[in-house]
Amino acid sequence: MKVFINKIIPQTGLKLLREAGVEITMWEDERVLDREEALQFCLQHDAFLNVGQNGVDADFLEKCKHLKVIALHSVGFDNVDVEAATRLGIPIGNTPGVLNKATAEIALLLMLTVSRKALHLHKKIVEGAWGISRPTMDLGVDLNGKTLGIVGLGRIGAELGRMCRLALGMNIIYYNRGTNPEAERELGARRVEFDELLAQSDVVSVHTALTDQTRGMFGMEQFRKMKQSAIFINTARGAIHREKELIQALEEGVIWGAGLDVTDPEPAHKDNPLLYIENAVVFPHIGSATEETRRAMSRLAAENIIAGLKGEKLPYPVNPEVYDKV
Ligand code: DGY
Repeated sequence: MKVFINKIIPQTGLKLLREAGVEITMWEDERVLDREEALQFCLQHDAFLNVGQNGVDADFLEKCKHLKVIALHSVGFDNVDVEAATRLGIPIGNTPGVLNKATAEIALLLMLTVSRKALHLHKKIVEGAWGISRPTMDLGVDLNGKTLGIVGLGRIGAELGRMCRLALGMNIIYYNRGTNPEAERELGARRVEFDELLAQSDVVSVHTALTDQTRGMFGMEQFRKMKQSAIFINTARGAIHREKELIQALEEGVIWGAGLDVTDPEPAHKDNPLLYIENAVVFPHIGSATEETRRAMSRLAAENIIAGLKGEKLPYPVNPEVYDKV
């Protein structure tokens, strides 16, 4: 049984695959494979371990319907046409749970970095412009005791809520399709309507999946409903906010600042104005990028591949309904 892996993954996952007798082809080149090249590899393998945001659309799946399993090296699966995979009988697996803390930490890091203009001030020193320091200069804003509005209070959002509640004494409000009773009990979180969240939050942090409903959910209309002193954080998917409108909102002072771990497209171009706005901070999609988390993700992905190749149910399936068809 052969698996194709389109980027280098940690040894943890590779070891598990080898021990299970799976033959591995792994693309180790710096150059990212294009869709056609990945397709050609998949045609010669029984399973595909897809690392990154590479699109797996209906046409790709149709051509690869021999695949016994596709395991994603991510929790997000917006890059896959899950409906088509289910129709074709291909189980898709992801890596839930193991990246909650690491991603929440990145959201918190962005909040702190933006609120204290940390990156901008670091750049000032690098440019030799530390200069005179006055009590009225380079001021950030407090996070302590302020209100955090979480859009999508799932596993990652709840983790951020916990950190902000415990470390910063922040009040937590959230906007979700359903209620999250555990977060309400544990964090005193309060579920509110979307517009109320925008109006009341000092920090708005996005943790929802990218879907047809959330694509472009944040534009000028929403930024105008936020406080002028508010900070916008997105560690979920870049397409959830409209980038041009965010840039305009920051340049016109409609909101105070923004911290992004995700852009659309990725990678972001070095000329992107967001990189040069004083109160904006952009990271290169590093939410899950810790040694421990990436090892755990590779383990879950390998477990999905091994189960799929054995014809067993995936331990972490995105489309469990695929098994209803048999
Ligand atoms: C995920 O797992 O979805 C992270 O965003 C990394 O892509």
